[in-house]
Amino acid sequence: MGDTILEMKHVTKKFPGVIALNDVSIDVKKGEILGIVGENGAGKSTLMKVLSGSYTNKEYEGEIWVNGEKQSFGSVSDAKKVGIEMVYQEVNAMYEASVAENIFVGNLPGKGWVDYKKLYKDTQDLLDQLGLQISPKTPAGALNSGQLQLMSIVRAMAAHPKIMVLDEPSTALTDSEVDILMNFLENLRKSGVSCIYISHKLEEIFRICDRVTIIRDGNVITSGDISEFNQETLVQGMIGRKVENMYVKSKHEIGEPTLEVKHLSVPHPTIDNRNIVDDISFTVRKGEILGIGGLVGAGRSEALGAIFGELVQGVHKEVKINGKEVTINSPKDAIKAGIGFVTEERKRTGFIQTMNILQNLSLISLYDLPKKYFIDRKVENEKAKAIFDRMRVKAPSMNTMVVNLSGGNQQKVVLGKWLMKNPQILFIDEPTKGIDVGAKAEFYKMMDELANAGVSIVMVSSDMPELISMSDRIIVLSNGKITGEFSHEEAAQASIMKAAIANQ
Ligand SMILES: Nc1ncnc2c1ncn2[C@@H]1O[C@H](COP(=O)(O)OP(=O)(O)OP(=O)(O)O)[C@@H](O)[C@H]1O
Ligand SMILES: [Mg+2]
Repeated sequence: MGDTILEMKHVTKKFPGVIALNDVSIDVKKGEILGIVGENGAGKSTLMKVLSGSYTNKEYEGEIWVNGEKQSFGSVSDAKKVGIEMVYQEVNAMYEASVAENIFVGNLPGKGWVDYKKLYKDTQDLLDQLGLQISPKTPAGALNSGQLQLMSIVRAMAAHPKIMVLDEPSTALTDSEVDILMNFLENLRKSGVSCIYISHKLEEIFRICDRVTIIRDGNVITSGDISEFNQETLVQGMIGRKVENMYVKSKHEIGEPTLEVKHLSVPHPTIDNRNIVDDISFTVRKGEILGIGGLVGAGRSEALGAIFGELVQGVHKEVKINGKEVTINSPKDAIKAGIGFVTEERKRTGFIQTMNILQNLSLISLYDLPKKYFIDRKVENEKAKAIFDRMRVKAPSMNTMVVNLSGGNQQKVVLGKWLMKNPQILFIDEPTKGIDVGAKAEFYKMMDELANAGVSIVMVSSDMPELISMSDRIIVLSNGKITGEFSHEEAAQASIMKAAIANQ
């Protein structure tokens, strides 16, 4: 490994009421991958936004040195000029434009006009390097969230960076896409590019990083070679305590069917005359956690969205709740019928940015009450506070605007909102995406308590240990069909994977 290429020295960044970074120093060597880990709200994204020029040199204290030269970035493009490229935690894309245009935006080949031939060829080369099977001409809007994440990485790579920052690049990736990413990082390292890699998935940190820096509450706790750490010491450093038992699951008392779905079909969003969910039927019982496994694109989210009334066009379904037929044509109908839905894309459907935490938490609980119903604000606030505390939402108070929370803390609010409402049937799509290990453990406990209290839970998850450990029963979807069903005792990674690639 080469010389030091990057040093951030004594960086302090404050927001109103929050010290996001407190005298943080890190360094990165040439051709090295530095992992940065820490709880939700620890300051990881903020540190990287300082590095990438999103916050200008007037908005923080401290110094940035690249190749022994002191920098002062007034903008993102200043940072790009010295070779710093960042892939942000939240994907930004022009959905109408093609993959190629998204990748080369601001740098399209040609003079005065765009040389499309070259654009598509250059894009194809980059996609090939990553082993991505996407056509350069595809509109970005047609990509799934994993492909969008990989596209953002290709976009950063197209600029030939010296230092590449990846802020939770794998939250929407499947296992095989993670392999693609890891290979790609290996190659970057070989070619002497340095990387900063942020992830809550500690196995990725151990797999790819040379060194790691732990941040807690805006302070560097320690930095060292990855070989100096194991899972336990890393977690302990991140959250300042041990997580004894990650997956808490008691034996649930499983009762009568609460939700029965028959002949559910959902048309494919981009392919004509094809169903993304193709005539599936399943039942969930009182107090049961039903896991839905499968690959991204198997139709899992669409199935939940269609039952919930979010997708209606061309959908066929027969739904019974507590033995009675119900008609659900909108999310409002679904909520009335006793269903809750924690969606995968929190930005789109999860919360209202311009409201504070308390308002967001109370949103759904209040919304279907009769008009003249007396709302006991005090009880509401106490309930919200209990969830706020339990999930360890990192914010000065419940009056903090949700838009100012870190990614993982926003996710906690979205979950909390539905826990407040306490529906009889709860759909959860990729629940712990972007959530730190401590909050994850707490969330699993809550899920277990809900099931014990008789709530029926349907959970879509691509996280195998989570799916296997938390579900009473698992069904697997592949290409819109149910290709496997396993009891908690039977469930094993190999058989689930086998079912996930059946019917292809
Ligand atoms: N624009 C902002 N205004 C006010 N506070 C902010 C703003 N951006 C970040 N913060 C606060 O700064 C702290 C650090 O946030 P940051 O996004 O860096 O966390 P993180 O480590 O990336 O967490 P996560 O794992 O959830 O992504 C948090 O308390 C957050 O609420
Ligand atoms: Mg972050």
